[in-house]
Amino acid sequence: ALGLAMPAWAQSFPSKPIALIVPFAAGGPSDVIARLVGDHMGRTLGQQILVENVAGAGGTAGARRLASAEPDGHTLLIHHLALAAAPALYGNLTYDTRTAFAPVGLINTGPMVLAGKLALPPVDAKAFFPYAKLQAEKLTIAHAGIGSNAHLCAVLLGQALGVKFAQVAYRGTGPAMNDLVSGQVDLLCDQSTTAVPQVQGDKIRAYAVTSTERLDVLPNTPTARESGTDLEMTIWHGLYAPKGTPAPVLDKLNGALRAALKDPTVLERFKSAGTRTFPESDWTREAHAKRFNAEIAKWAASLQAAGVTPQNVN
Ligand code: MLT
Repeated sequence: ALGLAMPAWAQSFPSKPIALIVPFAAGGPSDVIARLVGDHMGRTLGQQILVENVAGAGGTAGARRLASAEPDGHTLLIHHLALAAAPALYGNLTYDTRTAFAPVGLINTGPMVLAGKLALPPVDAKAFFPYAKLQAEKLTIAHAGIGSNAHLCAVLLGQALGVKFAQVAYRGTGPAMNDLVSGQVDLLCDQSTTAVPQVQGDKIRAYAVTSTERLDVLPNTPTARESGTDLEMTIWHGLYAPKGTPAPVLDKLNGALRAALKDPTVLERFKSAGTRTFPESDWTREAHAKRFNAEIAKWAASLQAAGVTPQNVN
């Protein structure tokens, strides 16, 4: 019966390479996760998955690209909580966040790492937080555009300390991290995925993690809470197709995603980067849709409560 309802082309999906839009610059955490998972999915599906970095406007430029793509499963988007937060921040979105996307499945979840350039005087959290309170206006903090995780983390940190940092926007935390390593900016709150290797390589200094527990891979870095700073943040990535993509195609993509999330090499890479999969019961398309809708409502309420109104951003 399913076969009758299915367009003929859907049965032979995928019939050509799949474009996977990453809405931030290459080398950042979204890009790293996309390439890792996409590579495995491509092998399962028997077609290459080619990453396309469509950066700009806090990830909304890439989302716009997906919203206008052919709904045939050959164009996909990886995105994180910023996709859900965007309607509360951007007044000029050209798509309806609630209806433009078909959730394929949740990918990974993990904390942020608040880090500084090595030349910054404080050597640990204990020294950093009082220093940041006094020096905030002179300290530059990098982010990946309005609504990006790095931006939300910078705002939450400022609120927790009662200060405002000088913000510097990049097209992703990949280039922001390069500037932190070279000392062009003072601070960056980035996902563990890309922050952990730099900390372990002694290229930057980790002051705190935004999880409730310390990370196994950064045992000497305290949680922000532990250091007396009220900053907690958990990020998550999901995979999306355009709305109108046939259910059998979405199911096939979901199956390939699940296979990637069970792969020992993928899991090892996640673990070493301080990030993880969701419990397997949350790997369904329905669980992703549920979380996505809940997060749209959550961000609308919390940003409105914080006095944030949607702005026109280009
Ligand atoms: C990126 O890949 O650049 C990040 O996901 C941006 C962010 O901080 O949200």
